[in-house]
Amino acid sequence: REISEKFGLLAGQHVVITAGPTREAIDPVRYISNHSTGKMGYAIAAACYAAGADVTLISGPVSLPTPNGVKRINVQSAQEMLKHSLDLVDACDVFIATAAVADYRVAQVAEHKIKKAGDELNVALIKNPDIVATIAQQAKRPFMVGFAAETQNVEEYAKGKLKTKRLDMIACNDVSRSDIGFASDENAMTLFFAEQYAMQKQELVKASKLEIGKQLVEAIAAALAKHVP
Ligand code: CTP
Ligand code: CA
Repeated sequence: REISEKFGLLAGQHVVITAGPTREAIDPVRYISNHSTGKMGYAIAAACYAAGADVTLISGPVSLPTPNGVKRINVQSAQEMLKHSLDLVDACDVFIATAAVADYRVAQVAEHKIKKAGDELNVALIKNPDIVATIAQQAKRPFMVGFAAETQNVEEYAKGKLKTKRLDMIACNDVSRSDIGFASDENAMTLFFAEQYAMQKQELVKASKLEIGKQLVEAIAAALAKHVP
């Protein structure tokens, strides 16, 4: 790889990226999930590798090839994603949470396939752990990057998540726009930084997910200089 100077600070760093959806089992044949394709997380993984980093993807089920040079750990549920994230935290310099983690899981996974019976079926759900917030609370805290996809009050919600999850940076997109996000190959984002970073806000205008991934990694490399663990 040919490493550009813009990424200097990322070279040799270990970057861990969560990506894709999680799947929360209902019974042995069914699950709750979402429409995440993993494209943005995989593009960021490729950009981090190109920047000279050692990259590990902790990936929910997606149909994407593993980017060149990137190590990939496959997981299904949020709990599994958290376990692997915690296993890697001590060796991790930058943690990037792009995964669309299911906020809730089924309280009691049925041992056998649930048979069709009455006209209504109620399945109780319980909250999943917040992976990025848990990692940000560890003694050796990596540079923490979160994502927020919002449909309203975009800036307010993103800044709220930056604070409550103790992130260094949050990349936020407005998913009410039909031309970007989810299955699209293009994206646009606004980056917000924690108070200790000189820069408060940065716009990444609409571009391919690969290009946005590159710009995001440049922004991380620039901010990393001011990181206080
Ligand atoms: N996230 C996480 N673990 C969860 C939920 C979210 O690590 N259980 C991470 C996502 O990967 C993302 C960030 O937190 O980087 C924000 O996710 P989002 O779903 O927007 O935030 P929530 O806190 O779940 O709030 P809500 O869905 O209600 O907007
Ligand atoms: Ca959520």
